[in-house]
Amino acid sequence: MHDFQFVDGEFFCEGVAIDTVSAKVGTPFYLYSYATLCRHLQVFDSAFADIPHLTAFAVKSNSNLAVLKLVANHGFGADIVSGGELYRAIQAGIDPNKIVFAGVGKNAGEIEYALEIGIRMFNVESGEELRAINTVAVRMGKRASVALRVNPDVDPMTHPYIATGLKKSKFGIDSQFALDSFEAATHLSAIDVVGVHMHIGSQLTKVSPFLDAVKRILRLMENLQKRGINLSYINIGGGLGISYADETPPHPNDLAEALMPLLRDLKVRLILEPGRVIVGNAGILVTKVLYTKNGDGKHFVIVDAAMNDLLRPSLYEAYHEIVPVRQEKRDSMIVDVVGPICESGDFLAKDRELPEVKSGELLAVMSAGAYGFTMASNYNTRPRVPEVMVRDRDICVIRERESYADLVRGEVIPDFLQ
Ligand code: LLP
Repeated sequence: MHDFQFVDGEFFCEGVAIDTVSAKVGTPFYLYSYATLCRHLQVFDSAFADIPHLTAFAVKSNSNLAVLKLVANHGFGADIVSGGELYRAIQAGIDPNKIVFAGVGKNAGEIEYALEIGIRMFNVESGEELRAINTVAVRMGKRASVALRVNPDVDPMTHPYIATGLKKSKFGIDSQFALDSFEAATHLSAIDVVGVHMHIGSQLTKVSPFLDAVKRILRLMENLQKRGINLSYINIGGGLGISYADETPPHPNDLAEALMPLLRDLKVRLILEPGRVIVGNAGILVTKVLYTKNGDGKHFVIVDAAMNDLLRPSLYEAYHEIVPVRQEKRDSMIVDVVGPICESGDFLAKDRELPEVKSGELLAVMSAGAYGFTMASNYNTRPRVPEVMVRDRDICVIRERESYADLVRGEVIPDFLQ
């Protein structure tokens, strides 16, 4: 994260001190580096330059319009999972022809919206969904391009909550039914079967699960060919991990190199759906220490950000490095960094060695650009925090802090309660 670094003991994002942003927007806030985002987009896309491909950014990892516009400016498409994400992608100017729509539970309204916009394809996860898409398309007089998402039953060796390609997972079509599902799809009147999709999990730190899964998909494609079904796309999903602590995930170049021998001679276009690897280390969450206190053999650092702002530690026991934004010589201690929410599960770090911190000082929660703001909620009626993008010395608020009025927008007290 070299766009986030200390200069004379003070933490900077590009040319801007974190303190300066805090003085402008208050705390907590998410902060993204424009330069890091651009670099990650370029590095990822150029890794696959030798293979005909479409890179569809996973909108669920970070859906701010400014981030999506940057993604669009780099020629990326979008991997979406809801009507709301489709709306965002279109608002940000992402080419509909580069949008792929995944998810196990698309509803009729979302299917209609996607057909109206004219997205590239649906990644279909069940036979019933396939028939639902066909029904909507027939009614609208349109054709729907689809890829079938196949569950390759490969262990991605990641956290069970973010593993998606195992037999027991709800995602995709079980590989034993795959051939028949493809066959059935070709008989639907408004469906064009154009591809196969897989996504085995997130935060993968090894290449081998990708390779195992792709090999299985390629065997399936051979069998499909024997039945006269020729596909134009193979979509290998997202999932490439990042370094939160001491993980050493493969570089996109390593993944591309490993895949090259498998894909080189195929006459199909590759689709990729990276999320975390693009945005994860391009963003931080900045929070202020409110209080410190000692419990029975415990030290607590109570900060103004909570599990509603960054859910990953509570939900996955995920590790995010935490650093005081002012570097000074001081002792360290083992602390729990906790938020103001009324839940014991509300923590950003547990039993963490941190320099002794004081109330009022700022902490940076690192690697928070992916699945940070997008998983935020209003729990405890806490306004969602602002998002800020820094470009060199420019500070741009790309999402304002919510107001109390925002929090009750749309709520109604019925007449009979007046
Ligand atoms: N494609 C599909 C179909 C997906 O389901 C996902 C992520 C991606 C692409 C992008 O995966 P990535 O490149 O970001 O690993 N909230 C969790 C992560 C959930 C990922 C869900 N699917 C977390 O905070 O770790």
